[in-house]
Amino acid sequence: MKLRRVGFIGWRGMVGAVLLQRMLAEDDFSIIEQPLFFTTSQVGQPAPRLGCRQPPALLDANDLNALGEMEAIVTCQGGDYTAAVHARLRSRGWNGYWIDAASKLRLASDAVIILDPVNRSLIEQGLADGKKDFIGGNCTVSLMMMALAGLFNADLIDWLSVTTYQAISGGGARQMRELLAQMGHVHQAVSEMLAEPTYSILDLDKSATAALRSAQLPNAEIGFPLAGSLLPWVDREVAHAHGLSREEWKGAVEANKILGREAAPIPIESLCVRIDALRCHSQAFTIKLKQDLPTDEICAILAQGNDWVSVVANDRQQSLSRLTPAAVSGSLNIVVGRLRKLNSLTKFSAEGGYISAFTVGDQLLWGAAEPLRRMLRILHQHDCN
Ligand code: HSE
Repeated sequence: MKLRRVGFIGWRGMVGAVLLQRMLAEDDFSIIEQPLFFTTSQVGQPAPRLGCRQPPALLDANDLNALGEMEAIVTCQGGDYTAAVHARLRSRGWNGYWIDAASKLRLASDAVIILDPVNRSLIEQGLADGKKDFIGGNCTVSLMMMALAGLFNADLIDWLSVTTYQAISGGGARQMRELLAQMGHVHQAVSEMLAEPTYSILDLDKSATAALRSAQLPNAEIGFPLAGSLLPWVDREVAHAHGLSREEWKGAVEANKILGREAAPIPIESLCVRIDALRCHSQAFTIKLKQDLPTDEICAILAQGNDWVSVVANDRQQSLSRLTPAAVSGSLNIVVGRLRKLNSLTKFSAEGGYISAFTVGDQLLWGAAEPLRRMLRILHQHDCN
């Protein structure tokens, strides 16, 4: 049996577009009898073509009657839309599945954060309990969980500390465009000097830095220079939390909810940094394991975490060629490397078990779109049983 009617909202944005691409690539629309596309601004215009299928014209994303006819709603429209629509729809008695990329509902007690390679059993439990809100996790958190799934599943992590190197796509399409414009602006300022190999590198640097600091640098979206720099703060500040960003706060709270460990949370501390990568988030971990296992064994546990994770040998060549945003961007691969024991920390605990690791993953795929499309597959299987 197919899913009857599934409504898509926010499919034109960056995450929505990646979701559509992935659904077409995996033939996901074949499990949906009637996919319907909603819009906040272009009602009546043609819906996107799905291979040889042409869905009906675009419906109004604020029309609660039309939304109320959906068996499931998949939204990448953002938290404001969720805030405006979800509760009203529920209060009218709508009992369909709400699958959302935004953070708005993530921590609600009756919502499940979906990352099925890590928490399939929690999702199944949620379905069995009649839960209807299934929300994609924060991209940084989901990518960390995918990378360290083997260790989390085996309950081997005592605590972890992470520093992130987050791509600009996490800030949205407009910020991504602006970063590229910033790169162009800086390059333009030095392109003539670059063409002349004898030009002093210090003069080149001076001109590039002046371009970065100039009022002409496009920064209406990002707010600061990012090209050739970094921004050690992601998202808003959490009130009364002594200098914690929301991104850092989510690292602990969402990860433990994904694991169903709210009552006995694993301590997770984050320092989140925006860098000038395009769509891959990288993360450096210091992990305290509950047991001091041999490195080979840790690698094997990590490699078995799920079908997408692979362990990169901790050598220069492999790290520089495989463990980078340039290598991973656009793929579902989650790479983990730089694995080694931090022996100098052993003095803090006689049993040892301190390791470092580094991971890279595409934040638009496993960090955003992929868990949503897989949730539709899970719903389909659930309906068939
Ligand atoms: N908050 C993330 C970031 C994006 O800014 O990179 C998606 O969860």
